[in-house]
Amino acid sequence: MVKFARRVAYMQETADVIRYLFESMTDPETISFGGGAPAREALPIEQVHDIANEVLTRENRGAQALQYGNPIGIPDLRQAVIDRLLAPKGLKARLENIIIVAGGIESLNLVSQLYLEPGDVILVESPTFVHAVQVFKMFEARCIACETDNNGLVIEDVEAKIKQYAPKMIYVIPTFQNPSGRTMSLERREALAELGSQYDIVILEDDPYCELRYSGESLPPIKYFDQTGNTIYVNSFSKIFSPGSRLGYAYADESILRKLYEAKTATNSHTNVVTQILCAEFFNRGLFEPHLKLICDIHRERRDVMMACIKNMLPEGVKYVYPDGGLFTWVELPEQIDTTAMLNDAIALKVAYMPGREFFVEGQPIRNNCMRISFGSVVPEKIQIGIERLAHVIHSGL
Ligand SMILES: Cc1ncc(COP(=O)(O)O)c(C=O)c1O
Repeated sequence: MVKFARRVAYMQETADVIRYLFESMTDPETISFGGGAPAREALPIEQVHDIANEVLTRENRGAQALQYGNPIGIPDLRQAVIDRLLAPKGLKARLENIIIVAGGIESLNLVSQLYLEPGDVILVESPTFVHAVQVFKMFEARCIACETDNNGLVIEDVEAKIKQYAPKMIYVIPTFQNPSGRTMSLERREALAELGSQYDIVILEDDPYCELRYSGESLPPIKYFDQTGNTIYVNSFSKIFSPGSRLGYAYADESILRKLYEAKTATNSHTNVVTQILCAEFFNRGLFEPHLKLICDIHRERRDVMMACIKNMLPEGVKYVYPDGGLFTWVELPEQIDTTAMLNDAIALKVAYMPGREFFVEGQPIRNNCMRISFGSVVPEKIQIGIERLAHVIHSGL
């Protein structure tokens, strides 16, 4: 047998965990708070059906859809990103600053291609997004976690770790973070952008949940405070349009974008043109804003039901994050409970969650007593039943 490359072993552990968790959650009877999918009811099925019928024709955009595309993406989707997604956040991008990619994960991959050498250090939040760690490990990078609190990354710890490890990059999910549901404060966003400039580090800002706000005030992205081009802003259409369409985008300075273009070309030529056209038409026809309102309403109700159930049903002493948006809350159980070990009992009772341990990397303590709970893809009545089951499992473990 030919030996696999070294990177395969590096990413193996994370890949195994993800596979196990997904396999254990496939029983249709199980109420799964484990995944990160948006509500089925939040998928714009009818709108996309109508768009496809009208535009995938010989007279309209049929040939464009089925022909090779440009590595950078189709102009009207890039323009929609600029006008409808970035401008409302105070970001002034031009077409030269935007590339369309195949889902949010691809941006992490392309940015890693540009910057990472084996052994390079990336600072991440503690806890952080497990798939991102998997991507960084594929590039043989070393992920070091920084301290976080209710306002996101603790800037003093980030600066101390910059001095200690000389990282190439800082990866951060500032809004309704995966897995914690927390949001980074305005002051810290500005401070992090400044650290990137001061120490010449890439700030990789990953913001796929920012549009899904159900309460509180919107905050400008870290990129808004970037004076030097050190921050690369990446986002996804998965939560606001459709995860199956595999669309995302990156916004960066033109010199970086030219390199992303080259990396994209070498990786997969370009993003699927059929879904780019469907998504661009979705914006061009004015369907996005009412749809966003609908999906926020759907998820807000689920968030509210979930948080009320957690408050009323889980044992005293359990701590949890109240998320102003996104799809997750983060629950901290009494120290003696190991949520990885408890998952088998939970699955036997037909409820599932993501054990917290998987979201920790070196640099900060691994917390075995935490869990990520997603309310995105479970209908309110089932949220109630699922949390009841979970409460039962937790009580048995006390
Ligand atoms: C923080 C974060 N970044 C990126 C992604 C990737 O999204 P996509 O489905 O667009 O690849 C996700 C999806 O769950 C996520 O939570």
